[in-house]
Amino acid sequence: MSYHKPFDYKTSDELLKASEDLGYRLPFSENISSLFKKISISGTPVPNRLAVQPMEGFDAYQNGAPSKWTERRYLRYAEGGSGLIWFEATAVTDDSKSNPRQLYISNENMDSFKTLVEKVRLAAEKKFGPSHHVYCVLQLNHSGRYSRPKEGYKPKVVNFNPFLDKDSQNLEVISDKELDSLQDDFLEAARLAFHAGFDAVDIKSCHGYLLNELLGAYTRQNSRYGGGFENRTRFLTEVAHRIKSNIEGLDVSSRINAFDGIPFPYGFGFTRESSLDIDLTEVKVLIRRLLILGCTLFNITAGHPYYKPHITRPFDRPAPGTPLPEEDPLEGVIRLIRTVSNLQQEFPDVPFVGTGYSWLRQFFPYIGAAVIKEKGASFIGLGRSSFAYPDAPCDLMEKGKLDKGKVCITCSRCTELMRHLAKTGCVVRDLSVYGEEYKKMRSALIRSELKE
Ligand SMILES: Cc1cc2nc3c(=O)[nH]c(=O)nc-3n(C[C@H](O)[C@H](O)[C@H](O)COP(=O)(O)O)c2cc1C
Repeated sequence: MSYHKPFDYKTSDELLKASEDLGYRLPFSENISSLFKKISISGTPVPNRLAVQPMEGFDAYQNGAPSKWTERRYLRYAEGGSGLIWFEATAVTDDSKSNPRQLYISNENMDSFKTLVEKVRLAAEKKFGPSHHVYCVLQLNHSGRYSRPKEGYKPKVVNFNPFLDKDSQNLEVISDKELDSLQDDFLEAARLAFHAGFDAVDIKSCHGYLLNELLGAYTRQNSRYGGGFENRTRFLTEVAHRIKSNIEGLDVSSRINAFDGIPFPYGFGFTRESSLDIDLTEVKVLIRRLLILGCTLFNITAGHPYYKPHITRPFDRPAPGTPLPEEDPLEGVIRLIRTVSNLQQEFPDVPFVGTGYSWLRQFFPYIGAAVIKEKGASFIGLGRSSFAYPDAPCDLMEKGKLDKGKVCITCSRCTELMRHLAKTGCVVRDLSVYGEEYKKMRSALIRSELKE
């Protein structure tokens, strides 16, 4: 077991040495040209291998439509040069929002999503030329046990989980009938996404939300959606099948948790015998099935942000209320890189997006370029880095390296904003906008503490 060690590397050699001390040779290449090698997804050319990971902004209008704030974030990504933009978690029903300001795609607001996609494409083409077609994916989500569309709303769970629930009393379990009808909502949201101009939809199956919870629903009884593998993967595979057979021309993808960080039988992706050994057998079978059903892109992640957030996003500083993890964040980065690499090598012709690169700061391009070269992923996905330094791809294209003064420092302030339902972005590098949000959020918090 390692211990928590914040990023303190002046040179790449120091970083590589630290990785070797943890027993792993981190891929590394001074030559970063592989990041700019073209690739195609289902025949659609994508200009480079840098992807914006989905990052909720908590800034939609009440009806779920993107606001000026949302637009600002996505235009910064587009003008920053990423070849693929994975739009954030977007609710498929009003009730399934994670917060009142989450994006939600509906008949009423589809046109505003369409306008956003058009503006994103136009901004990128204007800056990088007409052949720079940004591949746009919309992440469709039901927040499951984390649904908070309005104050006082009581979310439903897939099953009792002792790692997440204090007790089994007062829990409301979502019924099979409700899940059947929810499949229609995913299909309808995918149809709207197609009309809005997205290249693909992601049937989100990660980070503890509804579809991820279903993957680990070993203890859900007397249900078509619980118990054995067939049942636990039913929702995802049936929805993928229904979208593929009903909406011609729309690519289908899934962001999947390879493992949840919660032991069997309450989480997906760990061995049954020993509680904390990763077992990728089921996720491989699942991906193989999704490929047969016509899915053409995968984005692999892990962990449960409300349980052990460092597994999903290795950080230097935890958000208040989250204990400092015992492991070195570098170990978490390595775990994510190795997991994606394992899956990419199992399916060498399928594009996979890798994750967990923001913690590597100015060194991520060298690690990412080597990962691409060694076929450990097809895209290098950037989450928090995209908030902090959306034009990192552009700097890499023009200057061949990153500006150390613009990188994400994994301080978790973006998460802190999110946890307090404030508009979310980088408090450190986008200070004039999100510094103000942060101040407002802190003052509101102090006022409410004084009242208590
Ligand atoms: C503020 C915030 C919002 C996020 N929103 C989403 C989301 O909407 N969908 C999703 O799949 N992951 C979401 N994530 C996880 C990121 O996409 C990503 O997996 C994680 O931050 C690790 O990548 P990084 O090291 O590049 O930041 C979010 C993370 C943060 C910090």
